[in-house]
Parts: sequence; structure tokens; C-alpha cells
Amino acid sequence: VRDGDQPFPFTGYHDVLREVAGRLRRADPRRVLDLGVGTGNLAELVIAGNPDIELWGVDFSAAMLERARAKLPAARLLRADLREDVAGLELPRFDAIGATYVLHEFDDARKLELVSHLIRSHLTVGGVLVAGDIGFETVVQRELARRHLAGRWDPDEHYFAADAFVALLQAAGLRSEYLQVSPCAGVFTIRSG
Ligand SMILES: C[S@@+](CC[C@H](N)C(=O)[O-])C[C@H]1O[C@@H](n2cnc3c(N)ncnc32)[C@H](O)[C@@H]1O
Repeated sequence: VRDGDQPFPFTGYHDVLREVAGRLRRADPRRVLDLGVGTGNLAELVIAGNPDIELWGVDFSAAMLERARAKLPAARLLRADLREDVAGLELPRFDAIGATYVLHEFDDARKLELVSHLIRSHLTVGGVLVAGDIGFETVVQRELARRHLAGRWDPDEHYFAADAFVALLQAAGLRSEYLQVSPCAGVFTIRSG
């Protein structure tokens, strides 16, 4: 995705990555996990100028991991499907966990299950999970966008409605805040309650 104006669904992609990377870096992390690391675009921003950060990445695509490896030679890259039970993965605790443009692959129940598990089992005390993705402030705005963008909207993807997801997080005992970064993308910052 080139920087500059991009059509839906990638409007604001680079702004989202910069916002997520900034929030992860402000946690002053020693160890960071990037979920759905892809070609390593987010991870590269996180470790820029911070070679001491221990970077881990997870993705289910061997081709993506190969491309990430070229950008992140020192990273620990794991091949795994995030739809399945990640409890089987041998992950340590992280000071910060990032996820960009991957959680929309999962419905809200799986998003919540994954985020809750990672925060409770794999974040250090005071750690933060920051997720940037295609999303809208409210369920109503998401529905308006779906109608407006009909031809470009992928019915198999699960774009965030922040009001609904923040309520789910709160009910699960997690604190969160949401920032709309572009007309169709935003960033959640999530911590244990
Ligand atoms: C749109 S790319 C985003 C990559 C990167 N995070 C970024 O922002 O540039 C989504 C990535 O998530 C990975 N992915 C999608 N579904 C996944 C799953 N169920 N388990 C693990 N990785 C998955 C894809 O292989 C791809 O690398």
C-alpha cells in the first residue's frame, strides 16, 4: 500500500501504522509481539532506532514470513493460525502487542477471545495491546459505510464498530480507548482492567 491517498479499505493505512507504532514505542518495550506481521511493515516502524527491542511476529503465511524475515533479520517469526488456539504457542510475556489489519479476519467473539487471552497470559503488568484496523466509530456508521461502499465491501470480513467492541472489552474486564484515524480505520489501545 503506497503512502498518500488510498481508496477503501486502505484509506489511512500508513497513518494507522504510524499511530500504532508510536503507541507501542511509548510503552518503552523490551519485547514486542506483532500479530499478523505480514511483510513486517509495522514491526519495522516499531524497532526503527531501537535495535534492542526483541521482536516476535506471528503469521500463517509462509510467503509473508519470508518477506518479513528480509526486513527483520533478528526477529522471532512463528507460523501459526490465529483462528486456532494460540495457547499452544510457546509465547513469553510481552511489554507491548501490536496488530494491524489482521483482526478484521475474525468475528467479534474470536477477536475478543484472542485479545483477552493475549492480554491475560502474554502481557507484562502495565503492558498494552494496540490494534489498528478497518473500523468505524459506531455500528450505525459502519452500516452507512457498508451501504455506501457496497461494491468494495468484503462481506466475509469483520470490520470494527468501536462502540460495540469497546462494550465487549469492558464486559470482559478490559480497559480500552479508540481513536478514529481515517474515515474507515482506527486504533484501539487495550489494557487489563
Ligand atoms: C493485510 S495483512 C497486514 C500485515 C501487516 N500487519 C500490516 O499491517 O502491513 C494481514 C496479515 O495477516 C495474516 N493473517 C490473516 N489471517 C490470519 C490468521 N488466521 N492467522 C495468522 N495470520 C493471519 C496474513 O497472512 C497477512 O500477512
